[in-house]
Amino acid sequence: MGKPRPVCALVCLLFLWGQGMLMPKVEATSSVHIVYLGGKQHDDHILTTNSHHDMLAGVVGRYELPGVIRVIPNSLHRLQTTRSWDFLGLSSHSPVKTLHKSNMGDGVIIGVLDTGIWPESKAFSDEGLGPIPSHWKGVCESGTGFEAKSHCNRKIIGARWFVDGFLAEYGQPLNTSENREFFSPRDANGHGTHTASTAAGNFVDNVSYRGLGLGTIRGGAPRAQVAIYKVCWNVLGGLCASADILKAFDEAIHDGVDVLSLSIGSSIPLFSDIDERDGIATGSFHAVAKGITVVCGASNDGPSGQTVQNTAPWILTVAASSMDRAFPTPITLGNNKTFQGKGLYSGNDTGFRSLFYPVAKGLDPNSAGYVCQSLLVDASTVAGKVVLCFASMTPGAVRSAAEVVKEAGGAGLIVAKNPSEALSPCTDGFPCTEVDFEIGTQILFYIRSTRSPVVKLSPSKTIVGKPVLAKVAHFSSRGPNSIAPAILKVKMLKSKAILHNAIHFN
Ligand SMILES: *[C@@H]1O[C@H](CO)[C@@H](O)[C@H](O)[C@H]1NC(C)=O
Ligand SMILES: *[C@@H]1O[C@H](CO)[C@@H](O)[C@H](O)[C@H]1NC(C)=O
Ligand SMILES: *[C@@H]1O[C@H](CO)[C@@H](O)[C@H](O)[C@H]1NC(C)=O
Ligand SMILES: *[C@@H]1O[C@H](CO)[C@@H](O)[C@H](O)[C@H]1NC(C)=O
Repeated sequence: MGKPRPVCALVCLLFLWGQGMLMPKVEATSSVHIVYLGGKQHDDHILTTNSHHDMLAGVVGRYELPGVIRVIPNSLHRLQTTRSWDFLGLSSHSPVKTLHKSNMGDGVIIGVLDTGIWPESKAFSDEGLGPIPSHWKGVCESGTGFEAKSHCNRKIIGARWFVDGFLAEYGQPLNTSENREFFSPRDANGHGTHTASTAAGNFVDNVSYRGLGLGTIRGGAPRAQVAIYKVCWNVLGGLCASADILKAFDEAIHDGVDVLSLSIGSSIPLFSDIDERDGIATGSFHAVAKGITVVCGASNDGPSGQTVQNTAPWILTVAASSMDRAFPTPITLGNNKTFQGKGLYSGNDTGFRSLFYPVAKGLDPNSAGYVCQSLLVDASTVAGKVVLCFASMTPGAVRSAAEVVKEAGGAGLIVAKNPSEALSPCTDGFPCTEVDFEIGTQILFYIRSTRSPVVKLSPSKTIVGKPVLAKVAHFSSRGPNSIAPAILKVKMLKSKAILHNAIHFN
């Protein structure tokens, strides 16, 4: 654990155990509440600590206290993935050379509130970095699977973890064999490692997915330092308590971060501003008042409107966008007609194989057994063949169909589906590609017009710099702002080819 710290800095969190303490008529699942005192009144830590102790001693049975702005129930937040930092204008080849003018972030400390960090990832090497900035006052805390001495360096200059607010809300001990987790800054989920490396990852050469997308990965500010504040825990995909988030804001402001990055949101509908339940809005306000830039994800509740989160006007809110990178995957029919599907297939070409289209039985044209997401085929019909199927708008259709076809001994899969900028992963190494419904229909027309239809699937290629209009990604939250429509959100970043996922765990 780090050295003893002042109890409160700017926003004071008091963990009030017991019943009905400061809380008139507000429900929460635990008895933890956030006692919001606003900005601190003076710099004397002993006086501040004593006044908080006096307040705690005096609160039982009382509803109002001088100096308390508001008492807010603890609440839980969820993880999001936000942004790819390698967007236009920050490219190392960009004519404006913003990256070089800013010395790639050298000397800037980026605080990341997330699930922690996997320090062995090459993105967190401190090679080429300058000394730890002199304005840094934070600490590196050890814990399960995390040793301050060996896991912090000149890239990861600070690491802390905040779990009390989460445990109070969770209401039971965290079983780390059921939910893989470490009581330390170590990241069991991967999300925090992803966001920290996106913001400030060092250069790592020769990263690819089975040879596809080969290149050098880096964060937006590859020479910046990171300070890790683990506030999200690996339960139900990642949960973070507002009490822990606020505590982390307090510490980060004290530690001397220059920028704060949070890919954390709550859920739709948002709490109205009037209730001040949004810990990120409150915490970030104090950070921004101290000159710290706070960047938050817009969340992943697209494609409907009014889904943007983190809408406070002092936050820079960032949506996800489509990329200028493509993975065309050639489909050659027996009549020599070629289509470009998209996929992540890196094996050999399949050679010409029989092409099979499973037919709907009965009256329901979407009956189970026929559409991709509920495909029913067996070896007697598809062994050695490439299957064409059409998908309803169900996430996971490509992967589930690929697993079924592979299991039945099929040679490959073509999924016709609604076009989207997302690329669904297929079963590893299985020849599989996506086309839109129009191309799917043309392939079906070929099947219907030929006695023995055949097809060849070729390996995917990587194309970068594809001239496309960047669009807000389908999954990404978007405006208008549901709380205050006059405050325009979100800032969209056009993202480029970057394979973050390859560095999650080593
Ligand atoms: C934790 O979870 C594991 C696996 O489900 C179980 O075997 C074990 O008994 C649990 N431990 C506790 C203390 O509940
Ligand atoms: C990256 O791969 C290229 C081509 O295979 C090779 O020449 C180069 O040495 C590799 N670089 C590193 C740092 O491994
Ligand atoms: C397809 O192209 C190959 C090579 O160009 C050629 O040999 C073959 O005859 C063509 N087949 C058809 C059906 O046009
Ligand atoms: C791909 O083809 C090459 C050359 O024919 C062969 O050596 C290799 O084993 C094949 N790879 C797979 C995955 O079948």
